[in-house]
Amino acid sequence: MVLSRLICAFLLVACCCCRRAAGVPGEAEQPEPELVEVEVGSTALLKCGFSHSQGNFSHIDWFSVHKEKPALIFRVRQGQGQSEPGEYQHRLSLQDKGTTLALTHVTPHDERIFLCRDKRPRSQEHRIQLRVYKAPEEPSIQLNTLGISVSSREPEEVATCVGRNGYPIPQVIWYKNRQPLKEENRIHIQSSQIVESSGLYTLRSVLKAQLLKEDKDAQFYCELNYRLPSGNHMKESREVTVPVFYPAEKVWLEVEPVGILKEGDRVEIRCLADGNPPPHFSVSKQNLSTMVVEEEKTTDDNGILVLEAVQKKHSGLYQCHGLDLETLVSLQSDPQELLVNYVSDVRVSPAAPESQEGSNLTLTCEAESNQVPEFQWLREKTGKVLEKGPVLQLHNLKREAGGSYRCMASVSSVPGLNRTQLVNVTILGPPWMALKERKMWVQENAMLNLSCEASGNPRPTISWNVKGMASEQDQDPQSVLSILNVLVTPELLETGAECMASNSLGKNTTIIFLELDSNRTGLNTSTVNPHARANSTSTEKKLPKPESKGVVIVAVTVCVLVLAVLGALLYFFYKKGKLPCGRSGKQEMERNTSI
Ligand SMILES: *[C@@H]1O[C@H](CO)[C@@H](O)[C@H](O)[C@H]1NC(C)=O
Ligand SMILES: *[C@@H]1O[C@H](CO)[C@@H](O)[C@H](O)[C@H]1NC(C)=O
Ligand SMILES: *[C@@H]1O[C@H](CO)[C@@H](O)[C@H](O)[C@H]1NC(C)=O
Ligand SMILES: *[C@@H]1O[C@H](CO)[C@@H](O)[C@H](O)[C@H]1NC(C)=O
Ligand SMILES: *[C@@H]1O[C@H](CO)[C@@H](O)[C@H](O)[C@H]1NC(C)=O
Ligand SMILES: *[C@@H]1O[C@H](CO)[C@@H](O)[C@H](O)[C@H]1NC(C)=O
Ligand SMILES: *[C@@H]1O[C@H](CO)[C@@H](O)[C@H](O)[C@H]1NC(C)=O
Ligand SMILES: *[C@@H]1O[C@H](CO)[C@@H](O)[C@H](O)[C@H]1NC(C)=O
Ligand SMILES: *[C@@H]1O[C@H](CO)[C@@H](O)[C@H](O)[C@H]1NC(C)=O
Ligand SMILES: *[C@@H]1O[C@H](CO)[C@@H](O)[C@H](O)[C@H]1NC(C)=O
Repeated sequence: MVLSRLICAFLLVACCCCRRAAGVPGEAEQPEPELVEVEVGSTALLKCGFSHSQGNFSHIDWFSVHKEKPALIFRVRQGQGQSEPGEYQHRLSLQDKGTTLALTHVTPHDERIFLCRDKRPRSQEHRIQLRVYKAPEEPSIQLNTLGISVSSREPEEVATCVGRNGYPIPQVIWYKNRQPLKEENRIHIQSSQIVESSGLYTLRSVLKAQLLKEDKDAQFYCELNYRLPSGNHMKESREVTVPVFYPAEKVWLEVEPVGILKEGDRVEIRCLADGNPPPHFSVSKQNLSTMVVEEEKTTDDNGILVLEAVQKKHSGLYQCHGLDLETLVSLQSDPQELLVNYVSDVRVSPAAPESQEGSNLTLTCEAESNQVPEFQWLREKTGKVLEKGPVLQLHNLKREAGGSYRCMASVSSVPGLNRTQLVNVTILGPPWMALKERKMWVQENAMLNLSCEASGNPRPTISWNVKGMASEQDQDPQSVLSILNVLVTPELLETGAECMASNSLGKNTTIIFLELDSNRTGLNTSTVNPHARANSTSTEKKLPKPESKGVVIVAVTVCVLVLAVLGALLYFFYKKGKLPCGRSGKQEMERNTSI
């Protein structure tokens, strides 16, 4: 083998010397094989590089050198190519008048030396080094999602980069924040590759590092560098950020909403820390005046304690405590004051004011607050503001001044903070009639309801000067309605009715005048007039029906005719003397007919 190499080398040298007449003779220049670079899958053109004058291209043998052993793969005889059986049998063809051998579907296995040899006795040889390239696929990066603790004493896996199917093996470079990483104490890069059956390489590189807190947002990626016939190229993976765990150094507290708080507000106390993961938080509250810690509550997983509707008791100094469950180190925030503004216990004095009509009344309002409260008086019914200030003066009280008043206590520096108290003012006075007098149209003998309404404080009672069934209804605490059910008699028509309302402070009356009303349709009485009934029943019997008139006339006519015939017959019998009657008999007959 060594011998054959020597021969080859010698031949090559000789060839060179022959070609280059100007070459220095005797110089043992080992000619480099000609380099041919192709991408996997394409066609390699292997040109047998003899000079035309010396080469005889109609008789050439082609060899592939594998493990320094040339194997005949193709022969050219009289310009005709012929593949030798074997791995190249179907992929070789002659091109360019037989000077070039084309190898199709190049694979990584084809990366070797090919040589062509002239068949002449002083045979020449030309060596070609075929180099094969294939760009790796886009590198994929797999992050260690479990994260890395800064307390780790050894480099931990950050990410793994995989570049598939490249040739030759690409170079991997790891980057952190666009700066290339070098192997050092805190950084280990372990790369390995496997050969696929296709001959292509799959590269796998693991980046391990000891990280610091500052690396929590660091962006890592890998880059694959590779060569193609066209030159150097590279492909980058996407960037990843690895979870970094580090203990908190500081705990602090935030209150939402920021600014002035009032009773009823929803308040969030947020505990924050600069560690990852955040520590286990609890919140303590100190009484501002006694400085005694009153309660300690744990927050939710996000470090938030929600006070749905704060009250004055929630005022105090709040502090967050963070316990790192890994290191068991406890940190606490600076205390922060939470001030809940409040207005409460609005009181009006007197609580149940009562005053005589015409007198004066003073109402005073008080309230509890951590601020200086301001007061307003409003009329409940209308909502009208009557007075600004704690005192409401009511002069010369009128009956209408009775009713509800509202005192509102508020704090101008805290918008929306107010509390109110309602108070009912009672005006004491003699009865007051709804109507002083009244006229009613009535019908005699009808049942009638007389009504009378009176108001006053104390509530009046009502009495009537006529007999009847009275019923009372209480309209409201100050007024009463009385209804008297009476029969309309002539005496009542004459006197009318009077209702009298009285209470401890006086009396008052309403007079009801009753007038006869002949217009029956205008009256709504429960009973029907007895005369009207009598009249209607008698006329019903007396008045003939229209169709019976004719019958009466016919009957009278028939009677007259019958009487006439009867008279004629009597006269006939009298003349014939058949009737035994004298003067007296005549008189008797006349009397009968007149009936
Ligand atoms: C090439 O070689 C063949 C056979 O050895 C011979 O017949 C032919 O004449 C040669 N051609 C040239 C140009 O030397
Ligand atoms: C603070 O303590 C005092 C005395 O015990 C108590 O009266 C007061 O209501 C407390 N303050 C709060 C905001 O709870
Ligand atoms: C009510 O107040 C008015 C005005 O202040 C005063 O003139 C009047 O005397 C007072 N009346 C009574 C009954 O006090
Ligand atoms: C009183 O407080 C309520 C809420 O409690 C608010 O809606 C209202 O506007 C306040 N009124 C005034 C006059 O401040
Ligand atoms: C005031 O009167 C109303 C009805 O008129 C009543 O509902 C309310 O409870 C009374 N308030 C007080 C404080 O007496
Ligand atoms: C009686 O009531 C009427 C209203 O109907 C009122 O005008 C009058 O002043 C009252 N009389 C007394 C004595 O209160
Ligand atoms: C009179 O009042 C009574 C009870 O208040 C009622 O039942 C009756 O129907 C009334 N009569 C008339 C005629 O309105
Ligand atoms: C009878 O009553 C009706 C309705 O109440 C009224 O229009 C009419 O004028 C009255 N007639 C007499 C005579 O009063
Ligand atoms: C009489 O009563 C009827 C219903 O029964 C009513 O429609 C009518 O208005 C009443 N008339 C008077 C004058 O009250
Ligand atoms: C009934 O009839 C008599 C005689 O016609 C009359 O005087 C009387 O007023 C009538 N009564 C009524 C209620 O109409």
